[in-house]
Amino acid sequence: MSDNPYHDDRGNKDRSITKDGGSKSDPVRKSGATKSAADAAFLIGETMTGGYGKGPDILHECTIAVNPGEIAVIVGPNGAGKSTAMKAVFGMLNIHTGRVVLDGEDITALSPQDRVVKGMGFVPQTSNIFTSMTVEENLEMGAFIRRDDFRDTMAQIYDLFPILKEKRYQAAGELSGGQRQQVAVGRALMTQPKVLMLDEPTAGVSPIVMDELFDRIIEVARTGIPILMVEQNARQALEIADKGYVLVQGRNAHTGTGKELLADDDVRRSFLGG
Ligand SMILES: Nc1ncnc2c1ncn2[C@@H]1O[C@H](COP(=O)(O)OP(=O)(O)O)[C@@H](O)[C@H]1O
Ligand SMILES: [Mg+2]
Repeated sequence: MSDNPYHDDRGNKDRSITKDGGSKSDPVRKSGATKSAADAAFLIGETMTGGYGKGPDILHECTIAVNPGEIAVIVGPNGAGKSTAMKAVFGMLNIHTGRVVLDGEDITALSPQDRVVKGMGFVPQTSNIFTSMTVEENLEMGAFIRRDDFRDTMAQIYDLFPILKEKRYQAAGELSGGQRQQVAVGRALMTQPKVLMLDEPTAGVSPIVMDELFDRIIEVARTGIPILMVEQNARQALEIADKGYVLVQGRNAHTGTGKELLADDDVRRSFLGG
């Protein structure tokens, strides 16, 4: 990682990636797990294989990781296992190979709740807010593991998302799609996580709202919280990504910097519409 992880040239800030297992001049890796990346990564789900209950494996030696100062983006076709990979990292399904490491600690055996205590913030793809509660109550719910005074954190979240302050006493279910996503991200930030995981934070919003959400996400990353996110807006997401993963059928198909993936002919043809 570079000394100053918060460059101003995100958009693609490849220069911030100097120690993620491949030098920035590496070509896009065509396959699988990257052991070297694993060793250094702040958060990594490494060579994860597993599925739901007694069902078939959905993930096959899948590796996703993020480092401080980075936005790492996971893209890939519908049903590729992107959400499953996020849930595996969060401890919502059993993996029978691989491990999850956060800040040097193997947390593979921990429950999702315990992972939150360890510093994971997770915004799932669906049902990520309490619609009948007010915006402020949603944020308070986010602080459930805290025993200290969280008013400062709430003020910071209102600074980041001013519209939420305006609508703090309104039921979250009455908000627009983009505003609800802000509530969901704000709720996850209430625990003061060490890392933030977002599953399709821009799902169902207009391009303008998507850009705004990406700007806010970049802002969060600049406060020092590494961000691992799934995005269906692949091209736009890779443009702000320090690191990108293309998943196909539960496997790592391509891994590289956002810039590398955007420039890769294979990736462009297959996943970015040429
Ligand atoms: N709760 C679940 N139980 C069983 N299978 C599931 C569940 N959620 C997703 N799947 C299956 O896992 C595969 C990957 O789904 P998912 O991770 O949601 O893909 P993506 O997020 O990339 O669109 C799909 O075949 C899907 O049907
Ligand atoms: Mg999904």
